[in-house]
Amino acid sequence: MNKEKVFTIAIDGPCGAGKSSVANDVAKKLDIMHLDTGAMYRAVGLYMMRNEVNVKDLSAVEARVDEVEIDIKYENGRQRTYLCGEDVSEIIRSQEIGDAASAVSKGAYVRKKMVERQQAIAKGVSLLADGRDAGTCILPDATLKIFLTADVRERAKRRYDERVKKGEACNFEDVLKECIERDKNDMTRAVSPLIQAEDAVVVDSTNMTQGEVVDKIIALLEERLGA
Ligand code: DC
Repeated sequence: MNKEKVFTIAIDGPCGAGKSSVANDVAKKLDIMHLDTGAMYRAVGLYMMRNEVNVKDLSAVEARVDEVEIDIKYENGRQRTYLCGEDVSEIIRSQEIGDAASAVSKGAYVRKKMVERQQAIAKGVSLLADGRDAGTCILPDATLKIFLTADVRERAKRRYDERVKKGEACNFEDVLKECIERDKNDMTRAVSPLIQAEDAVVVDSTNMTQGEVVDKIIALLEERLGA
């Protein structure tokens, strides 16, 4: 594969499709930066919650978004997300913060600020970005665009299994409802809704292992770059 050339990969898709884990593995194998763009919206959500701003009140959120200082750093090849100097990489993973991220991400000004930062990070380097608008907004000229999806029951099952593994008490039907709600939020918002980019390759991971998805993406990239 011609790795001398700068190349970019955009992976978008609904929650629970396995974007983060797949993106991490692909980036590691290719030795390129992985930008988890959802972490930035999560940090904004956390900031608003800590400051008692109602995340559903978009004018209140947008009035304060300039205060949010987000830094993305890489330690041992993995992204760490800093909010106003504090490493929040773990705290932002909760369901509550995910819902807050989904709410604040509806704001046009919030999105403008995040996309500007993401494009500045991506400038001139080989990188893989995953999120909801990586192929449609952040990296419109990406070398490879993937729309990673899976059946909603399968996505909910993966989420449910993950939580059970962490020892969290949960119920499958509730997790399924959360996934359906999150999809609706992300796909129906007015600004940059989650949609498949016209030139994206759809990968349905319902009956695929994580390893198979990773191999498929790398094979598609090799094809694009001319192995
Ligand atoms: O990928 P994630 O679960 O960490 O994302 C959390 C929320 O952030 C998601 O529900 C929608 C929003 N998001 C977005 O609007 N655009 C992105 N590029 C990434 C995430």
